Amino acid sequence: MHPHLLSVDSLSRDHVDHLLRVAARMEPIAQRRKVTRVLEGAVLGNLFFEASTRTRVSFNAAFCRLGGSVCDTTGFTFSSMAKGESLYDTSRVMSGYCDAIVMRHPEQGSVAEFAAATHVPVINGGDGPGEHPSQALLDLYTIDKEFTRLGKSLADAHILLTGDLKYGRTVHSLIKLLSLYAPMRLTLVAPPGLEMPSHLVDLVSDRGHRVEQRDTLASDFRDLDVVYTTRIQKERFTAEMSEGFSLSRDFTVDRVFLDQRCGRDTIVMHPLPRDSRPDANDLDVDLNGDPRLAIFRQTDNGIPVRMAIFATLLEVESLIERDLRDVRWFVPAKFGVDDAAF
Ligand code: NCD
Repeated sequence: MHPHLLSVDSLSRDHVDHLLRVAARMEPIAQRRKVTRVLEGAVLGNLFFEASTRTRVSFNAAFCRLGGSVCDTTGFTFSSMAKGESLYDTSRVMSGYCDAIVMRHPEQGSVAEFAAATHVPVINGGDGPGEHPSQALLDLYTIDKEFTRLGKSLADAHILLTGDLKYGRTVHSLIKLLSLYAPMRLTLVAPPGLEMPSHLVDLVSDRGHRVEQRDTLASDFRDLDVVYTTRIQKERFTAEMSEGFSLSRDFTVDRVFLDQRCGRDTIVMHPLPRDSRPDANDLDVDLNGDPRLAIFRQTDNGIPVRMAIFATLLEVESLIERDLRDVRWFVPAKFGVDDAAF
């Protein structure tokens, strides 16, 4: 694998398949049945200059579950970038302290600039509206796992991506990753002005997929396998765009949409966070407890997938099985009160 994970562009179909297989081998550790120490002594630098809960914590937890330790810094205020330090200098400094670095930054291309100044593996945890490759890998891992449970395959699958497809970096990485697989049907539904960038639409069409763009969810989606909905990235809007913008309720994925327009086993995904404020019209909470809602299985999958990324970049994946021990502490049978039985 490439020494850094900055964009899905650096991954071939073989790389992705390998990573997903390594992730599956991490499940006993991620599900807290086994413990490993393969990264004992290694230190991760987690640098987050943009808001994050699950990406920051799951990268952190994944590294710890491999036996490593984590040092982190959040926001510009408490880092030397507030004193004018360049990405180049910060990168070289951090490289002297850490064995791997995860970085999230509001500017597109910034993580690549940071990575260009170090030989220590760097993972892009989200660079503005650019990419979020580890999220796309865990999204694909989730689709694959859910499809296996449902007896489906990626070939000919119908996947709907909706919400903010312009600024949502997760869908940018995901659509490129999906395009590496068997031809499928991709429907893109975005409010006006927030459509998927045309170069990405062209890329997936050129690779033989059927792509359809719409501006409404008011259609029949009975053959849909996945609805992947996203938050409106208002923090990336220009002042002009923010003025008077509100997302119509018509874009909300909720129980009525799923029951009336989709198939019986259509799964619902979202990279999260979902905006639960009134009028945000993000993914509705009325689907909580519905087994078709895969969003928390999706977040759980962040652990084995991020463990696989570290194990591969730091070249310890072949050592995992021989290092396993049983967990000795109490672990609940289910993590969430509404978790499905499977
Ligand atoms: C996403 C992100 O930061 O790009 N969150 C995540 O990492 N799971 C999506 C978002 O913020 O809407």
